[in-house]
Amino acid sequence: MQKIVINGGQPLRGVIPVSGSKNAALPIMAASILTNEKLELSNVPDLVDVKTMSLVLSSLGVNVAKSENNKNSITLQYSDTEKTIAEYDLVRKMRASILVLGPLLARKREASVSLPGGCAIGARPIDIHIDALTKLGATFELEKGYIQCSAPKGLTGNKIELPKVSVGATENIIMAASLASGETEISNIALEPEVIDLINCLNTMGAKIELGDNRSVMIQGVKTLNGSIYSIIPDRIEAVTYIIAGALAGDGLKIENLNIEHISNVLETLKTLPVDIIFDENSVTVNKSNISEGIEIQTKEYPGFPTDVQAQMMVLMSMAKTKSVIDENIFENRFMHVPELNRMGANIEINGKRAIINPCSGFRGAPVMATDLRASVSLILAGLAAEGETTLNRIYHLDRGYEQIEVKLEACGAEIKRV
Ligand code: UD1
Repeated sequence: MQKIVINGGQPLRGVIPVSGSKNAALPIMAASILTNEKLELSNVPDLVDVKTMSLVLSSLGVNVAKSENNKNSITLQYSDTEKTIAEYDLVRKMRASILVLGPLLARKREASVSLPGGCAIGARPIDIHIDALTKLGATFELEKGYIQCSAPKGLTGNKIELPKVSVGATENIIMAASLASGETEISNIALEPEVIDLINCLNTMGAKIELGDNRSVMIQGVKTLNGSIYSIIPDRIEAVTYIIAGALAGDGLKIENLNIEHISNVLETLKTLPVDIIFDENSVTVNKSNISEGIEIQTKEYPGFPTDVQAQMMVLMSMAKTKSVIDENIFENRFMHVPELNRMGANIEINGKRAIINPCSGFRGAPVMATDLRASVSLILAGLAAEGETTLNRIYHLDRGYEQIEVKLEACGAEIKRV
C-alpha cells in the first residue's frame, strides 16, 4: 500500500497552481445525463473521485472521454440507454454518486441507486434529497440496499423548502427540476460556489435557473437541454489548504489560479491571526506567520467558515500562543484527525462537537493514519511543519481530493515522497 513520507521543517517557496474544484466537477459531470449532446469540461481535476464519477456515468450510458493532450479536459455524452442502475460497488466508494439520482429521474423517469458510502464523517443521510424529489412527483422504495425511484408521469415543478441546508440535495433537485414540467421554487438552498457553478453550467446548457433572495432559487422547467463547453471553478478548499501550508512553513509561497472571492470567508479569519498574506489579482503569496492569539471558529454553510477547512485550521491554531475553539456544526464525528494530530504533539481536546486547541510546542514527525479526505491533508500540513519524519498511511483518501499534492509541494521545497 502506498504511503507519503515527509521530512518536515523545510521552507516552502515557489508557485502552487490550484486545480479545478472536485466538488463542482462531480455534479456538473452528473448533469451530462440531462442532455444527449456533448458536454465539454475543462479544468477538471485528475482525481480518484472524478474517475469514480466517470465509471458511475459510463455504467449509465455516458461516454466519458479524456482529452489526449490535456488530462484536465473531458467530454461527456449521454446515449440515453435503458441503464438506470448505479451499482453498489461504485456508489459505496463515493457518496457524491447520489448526484445521478435527480438527472436519471428527469431523463428516464426511473432510477435505482445504491445507498451511498464515502467519507466516514457521520451519518450523512439522503432524506432531504428523497423528500424534495417526492415533491416533484417521484416515489421511492428501499430494496436490498438500493433506493428504487420512479416518476412514471415525469416530474412536475413545485414549491420546496429544504429543512436543512444541503449542498448535494440542492444540486440534485436543481438538476431534476431543470427538466420538470412547470416552475419549481426551492428555498433554504445551499449557496456554496460549487452550487453556483452547477447553476451557471446548466444555464449555458439552456436551463432557466435564477437565484432569488434569501437562499431561494427559481427554475423554469424546459423540455430539453443542449450541450455546452464549460470550465470548472478553482478548488477553494485546495487553495486554502496551501495558504495554511504557507502560514506554517512558507517563505514566499505563491498560490495561483484561485478565486479570492470564494475564499474571502476564510481569508477574513486568517487575517485576524494574523497570517502574512500578500494579495495579487489571481494569486496570493504567504509567509510563515507568528500566530498570536487563539480564536473561535464556527463551521457553517457558505458563506460561513467551511467544514472542509476545519481539520487544516486546527494545525495552524495549534501554533497560537493561547487556546482556540472550533465548533463543528455541519457533521458529527468529524474530529477523527485529532488523536493523530495529538500523536504528533498537538494538544487538542474534544468535547462533543467542540474541539479545544491548546497551544503546543511544535509538531514532531510520527507514523499516522488518514481517516478521511480533509483529515489526511491536515496530517500532511502537520508533517510539513514537524521536526523529523512523518509517514502517512491510507493515502487513498488523499487521492480522492488533492491533485498531485506531493508533486506540487515538492516543487516548492518540501521533502515529501510517495512510496
Ligand atoms: C458536500 C461536499 C462536502 C462538504 C459538505 C458540506 C461534495 C461532493 N461534498 O457534501 O465536501 O463537506 O457539502 O459543505 O460537494 N444531510 C441530511 N440529509 C440529507 C443530506 C444532508 O441530514 O439528505 C445533512 C448531512 O448529514 C450534513 C448536512 O446535512 O450534516 C450537510 O450535508 P450536505 O451539504 O448535504 O453535504 P454533501 O452534499 O454530502
